[in-house]
Amino acid sequence: MPEPPKGPVAGEPTSALLPYTRHAIGATDRSAVLRALDSEALARGPEGERFEYALAEASGVPHAVAVSSGTAALILALRALGVRPGDEVIVPSLTFVATASAVVLCGATPRFVDVEGDTLTLDPEQVARAVGPATVGAIPVHFAGHPAAIEPIRAALGPGRFVLEDACHALGASSFGRPAGSLGDAACFSFHPAKVITTGEGGAVVTRDRELAARVRRLREHGLERQPERFVGLGLPAGLAAEECGAWVYEQHAFSSNDRLPELSAALGSSQLRRLPERVERRRKWAEWYQQALCGCEALRLPREAAGQCSAWHLYAVRLRRDRTRVGRAALFESLRRHGIGVQVHYVPVHLQPAFRRRFGTHWGQLPVTEEAYLGLLSLPLFPELTTTDAARVVALLCSELGCNP
Ligand SMILES: Cc1ncc(COP(=O)(O)O)c(C=O)c1O
Repeated sequence: MPEPPKGPVAGEPTSALLPYTRHAIGATDRSAVLRALDSEALARGPEGERFEYALAEASGVPHAVAVSSGTAALILALRALGVRPGDEVIVPSLTFVATASAVVLCGATPRFVDVEGDTLTLDPEQVARAVGPATVGAIPVHFAGHPAAIEPIRAALGPGRFVLEDACHALGASSFGRPAGSLGDAACFSFHPAKVITTGEGGAVVTRDRELAARVRRLREHGLERQPERFVGLGLPAGLAAEECGAWVYEQHAFSSNDRLPELSAALGSSQLRRLPERVERRRKWAEWYQQALCGCEALRLPREAAGQCSAWHLYAVRLRRDRTRVGRAALFESLRRHGIGVQVHYVPVHLQPAFRRRFGTHWGQLPVTEEAYLGLLSLPLFPELTTTDAARVVALLCSELGCNP
């Protein structure tokens, strides 16, 4: 456990920005990618399969389908779940736009629902109120890596509706000992460099439903079916049956694009995944460290884990208590940035984005908890390689700006 910071220090402005997150590529990652580069297959090869196997194991389900991004994972999972025009899908607004855009890109309507004040994840009570005849399911987001309350959300949805975890922040998190990714009907991960592990760009759908996994697999590759036992036939005249099942045959069962994950990325992913437990553990240590260092700061509301939940701490998002300080979030953000602390705000609520306001008539005032949280949110630097010196500087500057004693 790193030592807590001693107290405010004069923060000299620096040009190098300490980022809120940073990926780490080590020697073993490099050799894994080089090995893949020198292999025969640069697409649709064994690296993808190896990565999927390891990913399924890490998320506690039998099936994983690696794809080109977290966004692609969401779109393909929704399509595989049968979402179509006329359907409504419940989503939080305090998320990256991709969660709700994926619904729109399937032709369906996102129904924005407020979050719980403590965890900033979908509020099951609000979900129960929002369910209507067109509701086909919900996409709870494990905000900042903290698992959403999946079972209460499932109960609020009622039977026959799906729960798709947006676990893009939460690889390595768990809820009452069950890994994020195994809690819903399916889950989506992102391997963007800001995330817990990276493949450059990349994502995955994981599920325990074999048929759902098969549909995602088809949809990630032009709708093609390559398993002969799943063939439905090409409709050739009698006498040409042998031509329908030769080793060269594939069948197109749907219309879709190419969302495969390249082999080089999959090789990087497998290598990164091996260090997942140790990397999440370091994130957890830093979150604990911040908690101790900042617990005396009245102007801040600190993120906490709910009982039984184990966050992956993708983000350490504090909230400015606007009733306890006159310092505004924008001024604090600017000042910390000027001093080289790369804080960030996650997220501008999606229902306020012009594209959603124009299309769905969403507006300010609709989601009070989300909107109030947004006005105070600030993500502090947190990544496994954070140094005590840098973390102490973050705390000292933050506390001196807010006029509180660390
Ligand atoms: C909650 C959430 N969902 C979905 C995505 C989309 O993932 P990707 O950037 O890999 O497409 C992100 C990425 O930032 C995210 O934070």
